[in-house]
Amino acid sequence: MSPPSTEGVINLNKGDIMDVPSHIAIIMDGNGRWAVGKGLPRTKGHLAGVDAFESVLRKAGDLGVSCLTVYAFSTENWKRPDREVNFLMHLFRNTLIKQAKELFRNNVRVKVIGRRDELNSAILKTINHVEEMTSNNKGLLLNLAFNYGGRVEIIDMLKGIISSNEDEVDFNNLSEKAMSQYLYNPEFPEVELMIRTGGEKRLSNFLLWQSAYAELYFSEKYWPDFDGQELEKAINVFQKRDRKFGGLKEKGDI
Ligand code: FPP
Repeated sequence: MSPPSTEGVINLNKGDIMDVPSHIAIIMDGNGRWAVGKGLPRTKGHLAGVDAFESVLRKAGDLGVSCLTVYAFSTENWKRPDREVNFLMHLFRNTLIKQAKELFRNNVRVKVIGRRDELNSAILKTINHVEEMTSNNKGLLLNLAFNYGGRVEIIDMLKGIISSNEDEVDFNNLSEKAMSQYLYNPEFPEVELMIRTGGEKRLSNFLLWQSAYAELYFSEKYWPDFDGQELEKAINVFQKRDRKFGGLKEKGDI
């Protein structure tokens, strides 16, 4: 087997990197197509997807990314056949159980964002356990978006605001900052780099509020073929982007 291509990759190390995006969000797409292309059942693609996730998580930690959010199951994924939905539910829970100790040792703080009331009690128990176990960790913040939808999050944010009392929110002067306190996880910084694999170029209802100024990076690779090295490539592209946030790069630019 030939070694993986390093074309376009700059080997980044913690410490010598400026402008590593503080928050990277990833739509891990293409598991099914990866498997079908190899004559395998789609479930094998999801299994291989977990390996890719582990590789990317390790690299993100090494590079000093402070927050990583991955889309593990969307509010729309319930439309898939029951067998696949059940498989994804088990896979998520088993991966959390298997990785809990290592996440803890690596100082990763885990949070799960999404609607919890539609999840079964076994998954909820595992989520609560891993969140609690890693709650005092100070390293990378890992957000697992599970039963997550961006529009539903905005609805839940509004419900939170409506049910809050008036001392907490000044309804007449509602600011973005005040609204943001009602997101599923208000702690994480805005998404700076949004990656989607699998060749599709859309957001699919992921982090709609938090990605307002995210740089978008689309990879043709199916998710199981994405890894830490591919993450470095994406960061390298991000570092060359001009980010103006609606303003001008330099005063006087015309
Ligand atoms: C999209 O590919 C992928 C998913 C819906 C599931 C992704 C889940 C994992 C990789 C497991 C992650 C687990 C943890 C704990 C983070 P697709 O099935 O839509 O692929 P296709 O577009 O080729 O059909």
